[in-house]
Amino acid sequence: MNKKNIGAALALYPSPVVVIGAMENGKATWTLAAHAGTMAHSHLMVSLNQTHYINKGIKEARKLSVNVVDASWLREADKSGTVSGNKEDKSQMFDYTLSEEGVPMIDVSKVSIVCDVVDDYELDHFDNFICRIVSTYCDEDILNEKDRIDYHVFKPVLFEFPTYEYFVTGEKAGDCARMEK
Ligand SMILES: Cc1cc2nc3c(=O)[nH]c(=O)nc-3n(C[C@H](O)[C@H](O)[C@H](O)COP(=O)(O)O)c2cc1C
Repeated sequence: MNKKNIGAALALYPSPVVVIGAMENGKATWTLAAHAGTMAHSHLMVSLNQTHYINKGIKEARKLSVNVVDASWLREADKSGTVSGNKEDKSQMFDYTLSEEGVPMIDVSKVSIVCDVVDDYELDHFDNFICRIVSTYCDEDILNEKDRIDYHVFKPVLFEFPTYEYFVTGEKAGDCARMEK
């Protein structure tokens, strides 16, 4: 083995960056997150530090949106991760549309996932929101003829915590479950 143990490091990267949207005090608010992921085939988990402004709105409304970031609006998305609603009103940061569930979705985001928050697994000062996927709103330009997202067209931005860099998805590496061919 030619591997060095670097300890209990965060190493599951790069991971997609998303802007979480929620209503707080009657206004939309937005927070960048890279620590989010799929659970089962029906839920997402979003891990947000309990000091963040958005957490209160999420806990009250028990719903949120997950807006997948691509390079076309990375600068604005990045800002939502460097400014806190505790210090500055972030409600004007993005043009948005309220989903039929009353959740703010970012207009410029090509994929906005609307979720109900069904649980909160608190761990080490983080709210780990367990979210049931309710609706997935997609820009028609990134959908194929079967209404599935075409990742040759849509390129989510990925984030890597240890060096604080953003990446985009690159070349196709293979066909899943058909690697022998
Ligand atoms: C690239 C990037 C990824 C981030 N990912 C997370 C995350 O997964 N969880 C988290 O709690 N904070 C994350 N943050 C930090 C929050 O986005 C940031 O502290 C934000 O200002 C909190 O906003 P709020 O207080 O208005 O909710 C991230 C920041 C950046 C720049």
